[in-house]
Amino acid sequence: MQLQEILYSQGFGTRRVCAGLVQQGRVSVADEVCTDASAEFEALGLCFSVQGVPWAYHEKAYVLLHKPAGTECSQKPSTWPSIYTLLPAPLRQRPQKGPIQGVQAVGRLDQDTTGMLLLTDDGKFIHRMSSPRHHVPKVYEVGTKHPVDAKQVDKLLAGVVLDDDPKPVLAAACEATDEHSLRLTLTEGKYHQVKRMLAAVGNRVETLHRSRIGALALPTDLAPGQWRWLTPADLAALQP
Ligand code: URA
Repeated sequence: MQLQEILYSQGFGTRRVCAGLVQQGRVSVADEVCTDASAEFEALGLCFSVQGVPWAYHEKAYVLLHKPAGTECSQKPSTWPSIYTLLPAPLRQRPQKGPIQGVQAVGRLDQDTTGMLLLTDDGKFIHRMSSPRHHVPKVYEVGTKHPVDAKQVDKLLAGVVLDDDPKPVLAAACEATDEHSLRLTLTEGKYHQVKRMLAAVGNRVETLHRSRIGALALPTDLAPGQWRWLTPADLAALQP
């Protein structure tokens, strides 16, 4: 693939901008500046740098973000900064077939929720991970206002009715981890689901953190606000 096309596919700007970056000597491959925008390279496995910033070619982008509190999962946030500002520009600019550019969050977390968020430009992956039919378990660590008791845990496991839906929603797993905290596993992602489930059993969410999606846990060395690429092993762990 031509170097300018590689840059374009990775989100470094329009084809014209990418050709310009190469011609201006701002792109290096294997530590050597390449000024020929049409130079051919094997894209798969290619590492290059643009204005000194290293980048590895990814045909599709799959990333994991440790969402900090006080951020919105929207491209056009109303009050809080968008999570997308935590990602480098190429991830936000990767060309897509439709009008929306770049990676998109796989589901949303509330402004005050922290923890694991996946983002990708692979629409099929988003569909598979979000569809209730695929039952991908998501684990939440919940801090509660009132003490957690066995009755609440039993009700969450048996199913609670949320205001807009006559069908009860139930936790796939639920255990108290402390007097004021519990670990809840859900396989659906309804609006404010954890908060509404806790309210339905007479308690209230004070803090909410997503620690796991499927077989993948939030890495302990990924600080709030940091992101990293998903590895092939991570992606394999996420397969149903
Ligand atoms: N449930 C909620 O109530 N909020 C979240 O952010 C995620 C799940």
